[in-house]
Amino acid sequence: MKVSLKVNGKPTTVDAPSDMPLLWVLRDVLDLKGTKYGCGVGQCGACTVHYKGAAVRSCQLPVSSLQGAEITTIEGLSSDGSHPVQRAWDEIDVPQCGYCQAGQIMSAAALLQKNPSPSDADITTAMHGNLCRCATYLRIREAIHTAAAASAATPAAPAATSSRPRQAGTPRN
Ligand code: FES
Ligand code: FES
Repeated sequence: MKVSLKVNGKPTTVDAPSDMPLLWVLRDVLDLKGTKYGCGVGQCGACTVHYKGAAVRSCQLPVSSLQGAEITTIEGLSSDGSHPVQRAWDEIDVPQCGYCQAGQIMSAAALLQKNPSPSDADITTAMHGNLCRCATYLRIREAIHTAAAASAATPAAPAATSSRPRQAGTPRN
């Protein structure tokens, strides 16, 4: 079926099986490889993107449910890795293997959008669905606080719509 949606601000129409998860539309149809496959059953958070202003698991969203949807992936979070969360991730040097980090960053960005000054407990609640085999959880928490402080100190930058350069949290494949 044909589905028209906007990905990272760019209108696009994809032709895909109606039950194909958004994750595979992003990776295999649109060649946006920043969003990762971890478990495929909504349990790990590696595939997290933004939809309707919230962090969602793209492995659980059939493309047939996304007619007219606006999706933001890690590639669209900023044009140059300058989103406060990406800057904080760099500053704290959060990633280890990096595989989970695009999902972590997308969940953290969604959290700060709703709650600009989260407590440790807020962070734990918001991030508990994003698993990290390398156990970078303490650095993730520190980076979220760093991003919150940076955002509070500077005006919000306009969101970017599309980009292809590699950014923080986007391993190459
Ligand atoms: S791949 Fe989607 S939650 Fe694990
Ligand atoms: S950094 Fe390796 S799984 Fe999270």
